[in-house]
Amino acid sequence: MLSAKSLFQEILDNDESFRLFCSIAASGESQGGWENARIAALVPQSERALAPKITRHGADEDKHGRIFNALMKKRGLEPVPVPPETDYTMLLEQGGIGLAHDKLKADQPLTVQDVVTYLAHSRVTEQRASEQMELLRKHFADHPDLGRAVKMISHDEDNHLAYCHEELLRFARAGHGRAIRRTLRETALAEIRIYRDVSLAVMSHMGRILGWSRPKAAVLVAGIHAVYAWERCAGWRRMVSLKMPERRDALGGPTTTAPGFA
Ligand SMILES: [Fe+2]
Ligand SMILES: [Fe+2]
Repeated sequence: MLSAKSLFQEILDNDESFRLFCSIAASGESQGGWENARIAALVPQSERALAPKITRHGADEDKHGRIFNALMKKRGLEPVPVPPETDYTMLLEQGGIGLAHDKLKADQPLTVQDVVTYLAHSRVTEQRASEQMELLRKHFADHPDLGRAVKMISHDEDNHLAYCHEELLRFARAGHGRAIRRTLRETALAEIRIYRDVSLAVMSHMGRILGWSRPKAAVLVAGIHAVYAWERCAGWRRMVSLKMPERRDALGGPTTTAPGFA
């Protein structure tokens, strides 16, 4: 039976697919870490209070990148180059979603609108991260090698999502509601397309490595298109709602360490 669990299991069991999976994940996490560190450095004076949380957000993502690298190392595997068509973070940036890397590389302070854009982009991408990690946690929380990593990353991604909700609601109260709604909508509609394209690309690489039959690959492609169809017609709305989280100030305080990993 083809299920999310059996698919992941197959990817984890093969060194080649496992290291592609970890390399893609590690690269996305560390790009996120770099982006957050730059945003924290360029936060405008009026929003300085947010800087430590953005720094913490970036430190968490960097830690996730190190965890995925450590998982490879534990199996004696070296990272592989990430195929560009599987590079979710880079494709979002190239699609004009979130803050452009040119802006983050410059030494000009960001505007309040930029901070709102960053938070809206994170609101959408952290939803994706949180759901994906929840899926992994559901199936692999007790896995001897992956369990602890998956639980830790999943907990962090939930915190990131809670933080985005809380801060965006604060900006909405301060009069940025329209810009937030517009940016969330644009970001979500672009993200679901890029997520579909990246999923198709990742599956095609995995299929080659694992020698999937044509019918099996066809079922997976159809599944990815079905998810997109659902997200395009209704599912995207879950990525743009704002609700005060139960856990407030989720990124207050320093990042947690990952002993044994990174
Ligand atoms: Fe992460
Ligand atoms: Fe995150």
